Amino acid sequence: MAARSALFTVMERAARKAARSLVRDFGEVEQLQVSVKGPGDFVSTADLAAERTLREELHKGRPTYGFLMEESGDSAGDGHHRWIVDPLDGTTNFLHGIPHFCISIALERDKQIVAGLIYDPMRDEMFWAEKGHGAYVNDRRMRVSARSKLDDAVIGTGIPFRERGDHPRYLAMLEAVMGKTAGVRRMGAAALDLAYVAAGRYDGFFEFGLSPWDVAAGIVIIREAGGFVEALGGKGDPLNDGSIVAATDRLLKPLGETLLAAAAAHDRG
Ligand code: IPD
Ligand code: CA
Repeated sequence: MAARSALFTVMERAARKAARSLVRDFGEVEQLQVSVKGPGDFVSTADLAAERTLREELHKGRPTYGFLMEESGDSAGDGHHRWIVDPLDGTTNFLHGIPHFCISIALERDKQIVAGLIYDPMRDEMFWAEKGHGAYVNDRRMRVSARSKLDDAVIGTGIPFRERGDHPRYLAMLEAVMGKTAGVRRMGAAALDLAYVAAGRYDGFFEFGLSPWDVAAGIVIIREAGGFVEALGGKGDPLNDGSIVAATDRLLKPLGETLLAAAAAHDRG
């Protein structure tokens, strides 16, 4: 049984309260799929309501901490602590009535992520970790997978869309990964993708163009589950770089090298 700290209790309470309204709203969204107007405005309202609840609850639990939130941006707080929050990751899934989305909450202390929580309310799965204390899904300890060959690996990714990212370059990297692994998945919620690496469901994950709120909680959860996370090429900070490559210890290098080699070949033309 996982020992839950006072800090975790604050995060859990906030997540569960915001999740209740998201789940209620998701029920409405499912009905609205067939309406002419569509569920668009309704989803933005649901997203904002979840963000408001999270902000209120986290503020109540830790009144001096600052915030970085997807919809309402940055607020400084005590200058040491900052909540990094995505109230609804997987918005496109939510909008389309696909039951795969989550709430992601991380706590940064003096520029280090020290706690993370990712909650999938449709499956009632809470992935969480505090630095130095291991990673859990609900009450169960999590470890990354033991697979050691890329050949056996299932890799998660996020496919860029519309004006986001360099599509041909991404496709060159995706093709290289497709040729070397047991399969690639695109489930549509980056925070949950990272949680799945921590849970040993995926053996690795890569995406480009992500924001800190997409990855902050996942970074600490994967590391506490024994996995590794870096920016593509290994030099940048995965929280702020936008690019992220995550995997087990034995797969991080081959996955990173596969991506880099494909990008370099693409860039050479
Ligand atoms: C998106 C999801 C998606 C990823 C996008 C993100 P949002 O976040 O995590 O899986 O591919 O890059 O922006 O918009 O649903 O919060
Ligand atoms: Ca997101």
